[in-house]
Amino acid sequence: MNAGIAETTYANKSILQKARAQLSTMEAKNVLHMNAGIGETSYANNSILQKTIIQKAWPVLEDTLNDMYNQNFPKCFQIADLGCSSGPNTLLVISQSINTIQGLCQRNDCKTPEFQVYLNDLPDNDFNTIFKSLPKFYEEKLKKRKGEELSPCFVSGTPGSFYGRLFPSRSLHFIHSSSSVHWLSKVPERLDNNKGNIYLANTSPSHVVEAYLNQFQSDFSTFLSLRAEEIVPGGRMVLTFRCRSIADPTSKDCRCLWELLAESLLDMVAEGLIDEAKVDSFNLPFHAPYKDEVKAIIHKEGSFTLDKLEVFEVDWDASDKDDDKHFVFDKYRSGKLVASCIRAAMEPILASHFGDTVIDKLFARFAHHVAENQSVDKLKCFNIVVSLTKK
Ligand SMILES: C[S@@+](CC[C@H](N)C(=O)[O-])C[C@H]1O[C@@H](n2cnc3c(N)ncnc32)[C@H](O)[C@@H]1O
Repeated sequence: MNAGIAETTYANKSILQKARAQLSTMEAKNVLHMNAGIGETSYANNSILQKTIIQKAWPVLEDTLNDMYNQNFPKCFQIADLGCSSGPNTLLVISQSINTIQGLCQRNDCKTPEFQVYLNDLPDNDFNTIFKSLPKFYEEKLKKRKGEELSPCFVSGTPGSFYGRLFPSRSLHFIHSSSSVHWLSKVPERLDNNKGNIYLANTSPSHVVEAYLNQFQSDFSTFLSLRAEEIVPGGRMVLTFRCRSIADPTSKDCRCLWELLAESLLDMVAEGLIDEAKVDSFNLPFHAPYKDEVKAIIHKEGSFTLDKLEVFEVDWDASDKDDDKHFVFDKYRSGKLVASCIRAAMEPILASHFGDTVIDKLFARFAHHVAENQSVDKLKCFNIVVSLTKK
């Protein structure tokens, strides 16, 4: 049968009209998915930054799995990856984790568990592409890499917001999430007088700073309480997400990229391509907290002990090899790469607010602003990784 809700499908026209009408009253969860498919602007093709982040955080994850080994693993090890998206990163952590556990079991002469893997993302995520890649994953990544049969692994999709319950009580042994928890459940309320900005900036009034902090506190605390229900006592969770390296919430290290995107939108206002009021009413459902904010929320919520917390940085241009003397830096190439990475993640949310027709022009301007900025001061992306144990 024809899939989806297009006119040619089984679903009728009135359903399609209703779906379009709903798009004008969207919540973050309806627009926060990444660009689908495997085309030029897809997340699958533009997620090297997030892969670099997974690799940098891997030692913390590996230590956590090593710590989990306590004479044996459960007969069926239940893992969830939250905010899995669709692309080469989706199954990367899962296959690395399974290989690590298998290695641990071999070294300790114990039976490898069966694995039940739940891939979670918002319902609009491109789960179809993930599901189509599973036969190859079972065949190549799991079995052939070790040259022997693994214990069975069963992967399934769990569509839904991680700001709601996703799994039965005490059903998971390990939860992982990378590059996702900085997305808020909604745009904070009362962001008036943040004119010309789309997130915190050094011109943001204090009530805007507070609104973002409060929304993150509320969302992250909810996230922890929900996961505390779903994970077994002693179960572990490793989360990696954006942060800032300085306590001041308007510090350059997290606002700069978004200021360049705001500048690109304002260029288009000046050219008469976007309505100024549209830019004024656009704010990101995103927050990059300082490590002390994260610690305080974990402590106050109280369900988990914090075993490890690390902050690390990566270049927004993940192809930049400053330390390689043969690497030739090209600011325009760098600007385009950063713009493609941001486009893959932000196109749905921007298109829903400003319309599809402005997207190409917007990212051409953004690539230019990033290029000019890169030649003076390379954009850094700060991340926090926390390893937690359910009390
Ligand atoms: C930048 S991608 C990260 C994907 C993958 N983990 C990686 O590291 O490449 C962020 C993902 O988080 C998902 N996301 C954002 N808010 C979410 C929520 N409330 N519940 C579930 N997923 C969410 C987005 O849809 C997106 O696929």
